[in-house]
Amino acid sequence: MMLRLLVASLCFVAAARSITAPAQCAHVTDAEFTCDYSAMDAGERPIDFTAFDPKPQQLHVTVNGIVPYIGDTQMFSSAFSGIDTATFDSNDPASLTLDCGWSGGIFLSSGAFANMSHVQHFSIRNCGLYNIPSEAFKELGNLDYFKIENGKIDEVNINAWMSLNVERLTSDSHAIPRNLGKIEISLHETFHYYFTHWSALQHEESYGGCSQRS
Ligand SMILES: *[C@@H]1O[C@H](CO)[C@@H](O)[C@H](O)[C@H]1NC(C)=O
Repeated sequence: MMLRLLVASLCFVAAARSITAPAQCAHVTDAEFTCDYSAMDAGERPIDFTAFDPKPQQLHVTVNGIVPYIGDTQMFSSAFSGIDTATFDSNDPASLTLDCGWSGGIFLSSGAFANMSHVQHFSIRNCGLYNIPSEAFKELGNLDYFKIENGKIDEVNINAWMSLNVERLTSDSHAIPRNLGKIEISLHETFHYYFTHWSALQHEESYGGCSQRS
């Protein structure tokens, strides 16, 4: 009898929890999902916000090739702009990570991150970045943490970081427990190409992690 009750209640819990994800995306844990953008076909892009349940506070996206894909204006559906940040676990930042998994490279176009202003931690990992275009991160608006890790960058537009603010996010709507207010760029290849475009950026502050050309 006891056992039957226990089984019944477990089933109830399982049934109450419905987790869904868009095509080429998978649930990891809590509000964390992975998506393989490089595997999505035209009907599956942009990444469909409405298909996520729970809503994706942490998104880890595999990328390779042109981002957003040819003919698309953005990576994520515009419904992302309606994400209810009040439902987020306040212990964790809302994060977006693009990852090429070492084997890939991306050609980034402005507007890729439209409607993603809820993101607090943004990173690009293991990517050969052919370019960082003008105002590449504009739509992210205010970040607590920006990171480019591993990989390399070939060309950076002079206005690449224009309209992006990286600061300790302390306002109510964006507050997270441990503020960083930090930019980190650590690449595994030399900055050789990067530095050819670097001089115009030297007036701007907060390029943490980079040694400047003398
Ligand atoms: C999505 O982003 C675009 C480009 O920034 C903007 O014009 C549009 O108003 C946004 N959509 C919503 C629903 O906020």
